[in-house]
Amino acid sequence: MATTSTSVAGLALDSYVFNASGPNDETLEKCQILGKSGAAAITMKTCTLDPREGNPEPRYKDVDLGSINSMGLPNLGYQEYLSIATQLKEEFQKPVVASLAGMQPDDFPKITEAFQDSDVDIIEINLSCPNLPGKPQIGYDYEQTDHLLSEVCSLGDKPITVKLPPYFDFVHFEMAADVLNRHPIKAVVCINSIGNGLIIDPETESVLIKPKGGFGGIGGQYVKPTALANVRKFYELLNKSIDIVGVGGIYSGTDAFEFLLAGASAVQVGTVFMQEGPGCFERIDRELAEILERKGYSSIEDAKGKLKTIE
Ligand code: DHB
Repeated sequence: MATTSTSVAGLALDSYVFNASGPNDETLEKCQILGKSGAAAITMKTCTLDPREGNPEPRYKDVDLGSINSMGLPNLGYQEYLSIATQLKEEFQKPVVASLAGMQPDDFPKITEAFQDSDVDIIEINLSCPNLPGKPQIGYDYEQTDHLLSEVCSLGDKPITVKLPPYFDFVHFEMAADVLNRHPIKAVVCINSIGNGLIIDPETESVLIKPKGGFGGIGGQYVKPTALANVRKFYELLNKSIDIVGVGGIYSGTDAFEFLLAGASAVQVGTVFMQEGPGCFERIDRELAEILERKGYSSIEDAKGKLKTIE
């Protein structure tokens, strides 16, 4: 059978699929479920300097084509994730990813420094939380992104990865890539949910979630073409030393294979993990292995980026 082992940011992964930061990863118990699952790595919930309750409920809803959420960064505060990471590393033989976000600019280097001196394997800088009332996404501000990456990349040797919002315009891809290529980051994760979508239930004539008048981040099938486009564009534009991790609307091995053709070194799943539970990682990875086998590819590297265009 073809192998789906891969590597991201210099770390070996036993398979191609793991969890996106966000769903079911904010406590030790939930991360242990990921540890026992087929996920190739354990990503912990994006954390902040101080613990947060998050936005009022209901704040997450599944729908036929995906999901909407406005969680508002509920998390235990970064110090708790330092110790959760230590426990996960004792218990499981797979990489542990810390994800962090600042409520103000100074928080980013402070939390990064703490994770540099911890047991985590990868530090993901989240520049794309769309759900904080009154706060723009940093990833859409190229100057601030440049400044912030200068700060966080100089604090230690653990690999830094960047969680990006979706971009929609070629000029914006080029501006983002210019900034990212200036820093020694090891991977980008594309894409975060499409921010501030609105899903309406025509029966009840109501929005589905309470925060922000019903506006929230959209995930699942709705976002796959946008996610694929972001993976492909950054695969074309970024230095080859920067891996691409694909996320957005991956439900099956076929979806994962499309991200592989676009150039993703691995994929993460969010909505399908919420909907199906921890069996999704092994299932999607097995389906991908079957597709590689059937098509005569022996490894991830063999098929990565091999998307054909029409002359
Ligand atoms: C939340 C949502 C995100 O898309 C993200 O990147 C971080 C946090 C949230 O609302 O909790």
